[in-house]
Amino acid sequence: DKPIRVLGIETSCDETAAAVVENGRTVLSSVVASQAEVHRRFGGVVPEVASRRHVERITRVLEAALEEAGVGPDDLDAIAVTHGPGLVGALLVGVAAAKALAFAWGLPLVPVHHIAGHIYACQLCGEMRYPLVALVVSGGHTELVYLREEGRFAVVGQTRDDAAGEAYDKVARALGLPYPGGPELDRLAAEGRDVYAFPRAWLEPDSLDFSFSGLKTAVLNAVHAARQRGEPLNLADVAASFQAAVVDVLVEKAFRAVKRYAARQLVVAGGVAANRGLRAALAERAAREGVEVLIPPLSLCTDNAAMIAAAGTVLYRHGRVADLDLNAVPSLAL
Ligand code: KG4
Ligand code: ZN
Repeated sequence: DKPIRVLGIETSCDETAAAVVENGRTVLSSVVASQAEVHRRFGGVVPEVASRRHVERITRVLEAALEEAGVGPDDLDAIAVTHGPGLVGALLVGVAAAKALAFAWGLPLVPVHHIAGHIYACQLCGEMRYPLVALVVSGGHTELVYLREEGRFAVVGQTRDDAAGEAYDKVARALGLPYPGGPELDRLAAEGRDVYAFPRAWLEPDSLDFSFSGLKTAVLNAVHAARQRGEPLNLADVAASFQAAVVDVLVEKAFRAVKRYAARQLVVAGGVAANRGLRAALAERAAREGVEVLIPPLSLCTDNAAMIAAAGTVLYRHGRVADLDLNAVPSLAL
């Protein structure tokens, strides 16, 4: 059989990325130009700056992805692009590039939901077995998604306020750590102890939803109180206590969902899946309950285009292609 090769494009936030993936499984190239450096001095992503940066970088990133993969337009079967959710100006750069290439090269255009991309990053590192439950934890999302079969997504739990990564970034910022704060807090947490007993928001007894704003506020209050009293603050202990609260809830709800939907597998994706505390807790619980867990390597957890190409391949096989009037949808539902 002739292999299916898909070019993926991702510009929904602050990474300009392009990648070529074969048969939805093998990464031939994956180029990610991060803008974290540019946004750091603002303490978060500035939408206008992100859009402009994408415009400046996209052509070179696309060329590099094709070059690294050693393929040209004739070797490609489709072009997959993130069309939402995300920052509208940022999304539009990727969507415009994808439409231009699809038109010029006469290739089908496959729109990909960013979260579907995160989930299918797992297919680049292992065998996805259905039915499965996906825990997607990123800067913009905290979702439990049930996939009864390939390409069929049902959101069964989500955050009611902050996303897990957002809580990480906001807490880190309050502690004076650089953006993005997730990796910094993760490092600090490894050196601290869970001594603060921060709240865990379980919500209604049967709820698979999340809430992190109360936890965030509790951490900020503890920090302010210590500063006001002129007490020294053990940042590592704050980080460890915060992380323990986040991880407890994520792990418990993910395994509840696995049980409720009789899933064969739990897949974990998104930037926060890079978290070492979360990975360790998931592995421990998985071993105890005999549940198979699939987590991509760190480079595929954070935003990249290989995951978009992988998801795009699945959707392409199911005929889910778009016309050239495709638009960016900032609050796209899965
Ligand atoms: O998936 P991603 O790259 O972009 C979004 O789609 O949001 O996720 C970025 C988020 C940021 O909030 C970042 O702080 C968080 O993932 N993150 C982490 C870690 N690495 C990245 N959070 C906790 N621990 C980490 N090691
Ligand atoms: Zn993401």
